[in-house]
Amino acid sequence: MSIMIIGAGLAGLSAALTLAEQGTACTLVSAQASERAQSVMAEGGINAALNTMGEDDSVANHVADTMRGGVFLADPNAVRGLCAGAPAIVEKFYALGVPFSTNQNGIIQRNFGGQKKKRTAFVKSSTGKMLMTALIDEVRKYEVRGLVKRLPHHRLNTLHIENNTCRGVTVTDTFSGQNITLSGSVILACGGMSGLFEGLTTGTTQNTAEVAALCLEQGVELANLEMIQYHPTTIGISGKRLLITEAARGEGGRLFVNRSGKPWYFMEEKYPELKNLMPRDVVSAEMVAVTARDDCEKQVWLDMTGIKKKVWQSRLSDLRAQVMHYLAIDPQRQPVPVSPGIHYFMGGIRTDAAHRTSCKNLYAAGECACQYHGANRLGGNSLLGAVYGGKTAAQTVLQEAQPIDPIAPCADIYREASPRFRAAVSNILGRYLKILRCESELLQAQSELNALEPSAQNAAEARLLRLAQATVQCALLRRESRGAHRRTDYPDTDPACQKQTVVNRTNVFYRDIPKETE
Ligand code: FUM
Repeated sequence: MSIMIIGAGLAGLSAALTLAEQGTACTLVSAQASERAQSVMAEGGINAALNTMGEDDSVANHVADTMRGGVFLADPNAVRGLCAGAPAIVEKFYALGVPFSTNQNGIIQRNFGGQKKKRTAFVKSSTGKMLMTALIDEVRKYEVRGLVKRLPHHRLNTLHIENNTCRGVTVTDTFSGQNITLSGSVILACGGMSGLFEGLTTGTTQNTAEVAALCLEQGVELANLEMIQYHPTTIGISGKRLLITEAARGEGGRLFVNRSGKPWYFMEEKYPELKNLMPRDVVSAEMVAVTARDDCEKQVWLDMTGIKKKVWQSRLSDLRAQVMHYLAIDPQRQPVPVSPGIHYFMGGIRTDAAHRTSCKNLYAAGECACQYHGANRLGGNSLLGAVYGGKTAAQTVLQEAQPIDPIAPCADIYREASPRFRAAVSNILGRYLKILRCESELLQAQSELNALEPSAQNAAEARLLRLAQATVQCALLRRESRGAHRRTDYPDTDPACQKQTVVNRTNVFYRDIPKETE
């Protein structure tokens, strides 16, 4: 059996490790070295109901928060597996030497958005980097034994799909331009679609969205593309959005806007239970609402001056260093100006709870896949989703993979969209797929994207454009407000729309969410 994993961030590494631990070989293909994957940038933590904080937490509570945070659009079976699998994942990382903050009761857990219990394990605000370091090291043991073969600096050129069955991939060495065609089962773990919103995301620009675009072209179903998460606390720096981790609010940071000359801690007044830690969709929408008021200034501030010195030192020192470095502001002494920025794509390649896509022999995990997060992801569930998703996808492949006849080498030249074309697409999506949307603006987006069609110079540009059009089509189809999708013309959540928006090569339609099996 031959297995290829496309992407060597947390989801890809987790899949590779799961296969290798079972003695099964794989090829791990990535555009960049693992050390540069987006997972390294994840800051605040990883969720698991470890119940170390004396709050009577449980897997059931984690499931309930995840489903509610995603406004009941996530796959309930997938979420149950995710939350049940979380404690063992965090404990395994701890055993691998990840330096989580601990006390006499074990791993300390912090508050994070949308969760009623302290459930987020963390390593200061560099959790992603620490998890990645541990996994890179662990996978290396199997590289040495020949069970994991790495192809860094290779990009996906072609997905070979016939009769809705994936037979392999052709990847291209971005240094030499040489193609390698590999037959077998494929796990896609290639991250989110930041390439559709260049300059507007906290994510790496290396996640170009080209794999999602290839999938769509090949007839693989994508789902919930309209569900784009705006993280409330980001800052524009050259070419991207800098994330101010939600951990800052988890540790006592407070949002305010100046109203009639005085600070107004609007989240605390409006949401007395979770306050500044409401789910991200709610916080971001409130920030838009308060800054639109005549009696408020246009800037929201994050006030971290009340966080104790000891907490800064033990839990947030890297955040402080980052803010001082990029903004020349000491957040221990001065509020920081923040605004929402795109942080995560809840939508992507549609998978079931076992991480099968709509195409046989093709699996997807991590941010590129859509199943766990519904209409809004909870902070701390992305690292978990990546690790658990990679592992689950690999387990499914181990159960199902069949020998595949070798496919003929493919000589197609790898093409990518030009920076100019990308910028044109991003400019349109960024202007219209905002926190608040409405039909007339979405139709305008559609017509501007349609007008770009003649300027697509190659197949990669045509595909990227089609993905952008599909995203707008999903947003038009969903005539309600739910989670990250807020329509000013349909402000209510409509129970009849508690479905996935699905897009394939030719259609956009609603599909029922899988029924809970127990
Ligand atoms: O704010 C944060 O640290 C983000 C974490 C996440 O998205 O999971």
